[in-house]
Amino acid sequence: MKNEKFRFSYQVYDLIDELMKEDADLLRKARKVTQFAYAPYSNFRVGAYAKLLNGKNVSGTNQENAAYPAGICAERTLMSTASSLYPGVGIKTIAISYDNIKGKSARPISPCGICRQSFFEFQERTQSPIRIILSGLEGKVQVIENAADLLPLVFGAEDMS
Ligand code: THU
Repeated sequence: MKNEKFRFSYQVYDLIDELMKEDADLLRKARKVTQFAYAPYSNFRVGAYAKLLNGKNVSGTNQENAAYPAGICAERTLMSTASSLYPGVGIKTIAISYDNIKGKSARPISPCGICRQSFFEFQERTQSPIRIILSGLEGKVQVIENAADLLPLVFGAEDMS
C-alpha cells in the first residue's frame, strides 16, 4: 500500500486592482454580464467572460428553467458558445462572478462539479489549459492556472480507450 497526495496552489489577490490589466478587464466584464443571467428561481446571477486563444472574447450566464434540471450554468453556456462560434479554439482565461440578489457577493465562488468535468473535456479537446479567475462583485480574487486542478482523479475520454 502507498499513499498518494494531490496538492495544488492558486493565487489570492485582495482586490481586482492587483491583477494584471487583461485579467482585471475580464473580471470586470464577468461582473457586468451577471445582469444577463436568467435566474428567476435562484436569484443567483452568474456571469462568465473569457478570452479565447484566437483573441476573441465570449460570455455566458446561467439560464434557468421551471423544470429545474433543464437550467444551465454560466460556465457551460460560455463553453457551448465558444465551441459553436469557434470550434476547436481553446479558452485562455475565463473570469467568473455572480450577483446574489438575496445576499452578499464579496467572496469568490467555485464552479460546480458538472462544470469542472466540462472544463476538463474542453481542455482535452483543445489541448490547452484553462486559467480561471474567480471573484464576487467585490473583494478577493482567486486565480487558478489550470482547470484540471479542480478535478483530481478525473474520468475522461482516455479512460474509455
Ligand atoms: N451556477 C452557475 O451558473 N455557475 C456556478 O459556478 C455555480 C452555480 C448557477 C446554477 C443556478 O442557476 C444558480 O447558479 C444557483 O445554483
